[in-house]
Amino acid sequence: MKCTVCRGPAIIDLRRHNANFCGDHFLKFCRDQVAKAISQHDMIAPGQRVLVAVSGGKDSLALWDLLVELGYDVEGMTIGLGIGDYSDASTAASVAFAESRGLPLRRIDLRGDYGYDIPTAAAVTRRVPCSSCGTSKRHLIDSAALDGGFDVVATGHNLDDEAAVLLGNVLHWHTAYLGRQAPVLPGRDGFPRKVKPLVRLSERETAAYCVVRGIDYIVDECPMAEGNRHLRYKEALNSIEAASPGTKHAFYFEFLDKAADRFRPEAAEAQEGLRPCATCGSPTTADVCAFCRLVDRVSDADPVPVELLRAGRGRGGNASNRNKNRTKVNR
Ligand code: AMP
Ligand code: FES
Ligand code: ZN
Ligand code: ZN
Repeated sequence: MKCTVCRGPAIIDLRRHNANFCGDHFLKFCRDQVAKAISQHDMIAPGQRVLVAVSGGKDSLALWDLLVELGYDVEGMTIGLGIGDYSDASTAASVAFAESRGLPLRRIDLRGDYGYDIPTAAAVTRRVPCSSCGTSKRHLIDSAALDGGFDVVATGHNLDDEAAVLLGNVLHWHTAYLGRQAPVLPGRDGFPRKVKPLVRLSERETAAYCVVRGIDYIVDECPMAEGNRHLRYKEALNSIEAASPGTKHAFYFEFLDKAADRFRPEAAEAQEGLRPCATCGSPTTADVCAFCRLVDRVSDADPVPVELLRAGRGRGGNASNRNKNRTKVNR
């Protein structure tokens, strides 16, 4: 297999681009794809300060590295979610990357800073872990960006993520979500500007990028996400992609070109009536935002170890948590 550009030995074949690349030309390909996404969607203007949200996984570490390579002014931020060994390893990977490059990293720890972790929140609220996890991440990333005076927040969502989210939204006709699904969410009403510069790269490509660049990322996926719908949508798309390379790219980018605008009114309607949270000032459609309600509900609960939750006993909390939960809800 030869590199399409220099005819040297190739290390990767990219069927959707009908190309093979050697290490150097693959890195150039990744930088070019990110630069193209940034310019096509007007993601980041020269001189803007960027906060990159990092999980220690391949996508967000590749993103951080690529933004630095492209000359952007970037700081990292990472949230310790308290999901057992997985979160410890994820924070350690982010810290090791930042230290090895001398890059600034802001750290938040749910348990240390807010008195809860994701397994406990899932048990007390009796919702899937991804629900309290998403609420926590969104709020803390947004506030870190606004408090730190950043112009833009960048996240590591890649083509596989966006195509799987799109498939889920289409399968259930979540029209308001379809109207918000975009590589750029403009800053407004107390929300920071958010961008996804990896939308033109697949997760196989971000993993290969890290390997070629010598970036030590955490390989394990979140143990709480095992078997969830998002992963099933990814698998479905992967099997279609294997038979017809380029389908995932077409599905997502043709949606942006031809259909996304049609759902904007539904998205705008869902965001009507935003006002500042009475506790923290973040925009919300309720009196108190979802994050503050979550913290209020879970921050003094007995910690639930991740193993208990995974064993299926903790989803509704153990008996003492369940009772505590009831008391809190009734209050
Ligand atoms: P996920 O929601 O796990 O698919 O992650 C999507 C993106 O959110 C990642 O690419 C990161 O940019 C960001 N992210 C995920 N986990 C964390 C974390 N623990 N701390 C900071 N950012 C995160
Ligand atoms: Fe949020 Fe797994 S990373 S539940
Ligand atoms: Zn080459
Ligand atoms: Zn709030």
